[in-house]
Amino acid sequence: MTERSVLAIVLAAGLGTRMKSELPKVMHPIGGLPLAGHVLSTLERACVDRVAVVTGPDMEVLEQLVGQMLPGAACHIQTERLGTAHAALAAKPALEGQLDEVLVLFGDTPLITPETVNTVRKALQNGADVAVLGFEAANPYGYGRLVTENGRLVAIREEKDATEEERQLTLCNSGIMGFAGQHAKTLLETIGNDNAKGEYYLTDAVEIASRTGLNVIAVTASEQDVQGINTRAQLAECEAIFQARKRQEVLETGVTLLAPETVFFAHDTVIESDVVIEQNVVFGPGVVVETGSVIRAFSHLEGATVGEGSTVGPYARLRPGAKLTGQAHIGNFVEIKNTEIGQGAKVNHLSYIGDALVGAKTNIGAGTITCNYDGFGKHRTEIGGGSFIGSNATLVAPLSLGAGVYVAAGSTVTEQVPPNALVIGRGRQVVKQERASELRDRFRAAKEAKG
Ligand code: UD1
Ligand code: MG
Repeated sequence: MTERSVLAIVLAAGLGTRMKSELPKVMHPIGGLPLAGHVLSTLERACVDRVAVVTGPDMEVLEQLVGQMLPGAACHIQTERLGTAHAALAAKPALEGQLDEVLVLFGDTPLITPETVNTVRKALQNGADVAVLGFEAANPYGYGRLVTENGRLVAIREEKDATEEERQLTLCNSGIMGFAGQHAKTLLETIGNDNAKGEYYLTDAVEIASRTGLNVIAVTASEQDVQGINTRAQLAECEAIFQARKRQEVLETGVTLLAPETVFFAHDTVIESDVVIEQNVVFGPGVVVETGSVIRAFSHLEGATVGEGSTVGPYARLRPGAKLTGQAHIGNFVEIKNTEIGQGAKVNHLSYIGDALVGAKTNIGAGTITCNYDGFGKHRTEIGGGSFIGSNATLVAPLSLGAGVYVAAGSTVTEQVPPNALVIGRGRQVVKQERASELRDRFRAAKEAKG
């Protein structure tokens, strides 16, 4: 298969007016990755290496995404949004030269898998000139309907152009289409805009090809694979399908999810085997949880690595750059940001540790805060291994504490501390004998005098 020259054109221009958003439609995320990113990832996994993305004017965010994900892909700008065929032709420079297969995919159809892309490719390899990927829609409203005659696909009719009878059809167009290389450009160039929307419809390629005696066939996929997104409600539906798939995948790799439907993953979440994830946990992008760890209920992790055998939560927040080396304990109401927590270190209660390095086996007491920000810049705190930081310590960065130090509870530490030192940075305690009952007597008398 890989010897054939294949070009995939991803159509992604336009805001998608029904999304009612300033953000281009294909940049709305699912599992933390923009819709178009899911399509690019599928093409990469399907080993389609020539990719052209059709973007709109002012869509630099999309161009950046393409540059990051597929640096070899070209972006072509469709200056006016005149329909899907017009969009495909914006990538005309990519259509020059010898091509065996041309695939057209939509940036708003993010759940497509490499297997489904290959279904279309196989149809072309088996002699189809045009292969349309269709699906049985539970609710076909808004989709193009596949019109067949004697079992042959002869046209795709868009919702607005369909007759009452055609609207009853439930076999719909997913938007993914394949063309034999030698016909692709001619077919696209023949498409006109004589329809209800006055747009150049890619779907018209089917009727043109069928009339000119080319071999047009429909292959099918499940609705879940090809659901298109035109509205926020469909975005939410696709998010739900994505999450259901990801939960299944995670369970199959030997992870325990106590209540799978309450755990939310990102597109790139990596959970190793024998991890236990309790209820109501959210993973933002960039999280790796290594084997034997437990993520307890109501925790939120993003851009974090949880080393082997660690415990996180309940109610913990790991922000970008949190790196737990292994066997760490991060407890309730603890926030960790851009910090490496050494092997076996513990931050068990009510702390903020940011821009820091915490040595192995160090214990951070309840309520400890690293003061990393002075309103202008961020500063680092380094704490050596085997240290004990008493409760409610305030560590004012930049600050460095050597290994094995002991910080007394309630201390405010502002200066460097050498290894094995004891630091006490707090007001001295004053005890006045019998003063409590004297005070009470005074207050009572004052109250009685007032009546
Ligand atoms: C399209 C199909 C419809 C199919 C449905 C599947 C056409 C004419 N209709 O309808 O048969 O059932 O998808 O989800 O093809 N785009 C551009 N430039 C344009 C127009 C669209 O780049 O000028 C891109 C959009 O960003 C989007 C994709 O093409 O990613 C599809 O466009 P959209 O407007 O969503 O078409 P649908 O009405 O969903
Ligand atoms: Mg659409």
